[in-house]
Amino acid sequence: MTDRDEAPKSVDLSTPNAARMYDYFLGGKDNLAPDRAAAEMVLGIAPQIRLAARQNRAFLGRAVRYLAEAGIRQFLDIGTGLPTQNNVHEVAHTIAPDASVVYVDNDPVVLAHGRAILAGSQNVHIVQADLRRPEEILDDPEVRERLDFDRPVAILLVAIVHFLQDADDPEKVVARFRDALPSGGYLVLSHVCGDALPEAVEPVTEIYRRSSTPIITRSTERIRGLFGDLELVEPGLVNVSAWRPDNVESKLITERYPQSYFLAGVARKP
Ligand SMILES: C[S@@+](CC[C@H](N)C(=O)[O-])C[C@H]1O[C@@H](n2cnc3c(N)ncnc32)[C@H](O)[C@@H]1O
Repeated sequence: MTDRDEAPKSVDLSTPNAARMYDYFLGGKDNLAPDRAAAEMVLGIAPQIRLAARQNRAFLGRAVRYLAEAGIRQFLDIGTGLPTQNNVHEVAHTIAPDASVVYVDNDPVVLAHGRAILAGSQNVHIVQADLRRPEEILDDPEVRERLDFDRPVAILLVAIVHFLQDADDPEKVVARFRDALPSGGYLVLSHVCGDALPEAVEPVTEIYRRSSTPIITRSTERIRGLFGDLELVEPGLVNVSAWRPDNVESKLITERYPQSYFLAGVARKP
């Protein structure tokens, strides 16, 4: 995307946006000057955030591969982002081409981008809805048509719950999705955590506060609570880089940043 690219009229492209800042951290091209400026300010405070974003994306790929290998054939990915590569459907389809993937996002730019790159893809659909209104997602006709909640389904909330403010009641929102899981279904969740870098929390939060997508860091215990009584698979709730690492970069980063900064887990409903 360039600054001149068309966007829906209702979209404010002059205000930084987390999806596009994340794309910048990942080295993508779907970002604009205000996003890049805000992202650079974040990196000035906490340079490791670029690595954390990349590690989060890699975690998402490993989690989807793990689930596809475990036999999961249905994925509800809420908070699609501006995917460039290693999208959920691409990873799932390398193992199970018949896997059904429904993406959900509330950002019209993400929707337009997703629809363009998914055109012609089999078993992949994208829906505009808001995480803060779980029923809107769970009752969406496309979601209901493509996913059968009587069979195992994985719900992915990867790098999205930290966009819910406390007033949005993230515990209640995530509990509604846990309740929707059938036995044998999975919740995949990652969330930024302030425990490792307490001095960076306020300045980084302040930058996002001026974006269209304010962010809230939460403690390890609060993030653990989002899994409720689901059973976390090994290695439990850990830094994104430490979740079943399969490459040298993840292993080195885990050694270098052992404290909680971006936590992730995959949990199964008994
Ligand atoms: C940082 S991206 C994460 C992308 C992908 N899940 C990943 O981890 O690589 C977060 C995405 O969540 C979306 N998002 C944020 N708040 C949302 C909400 N309340 N409802 C739906 N989508 C939301 C943003 O538009 C963005 O696309």
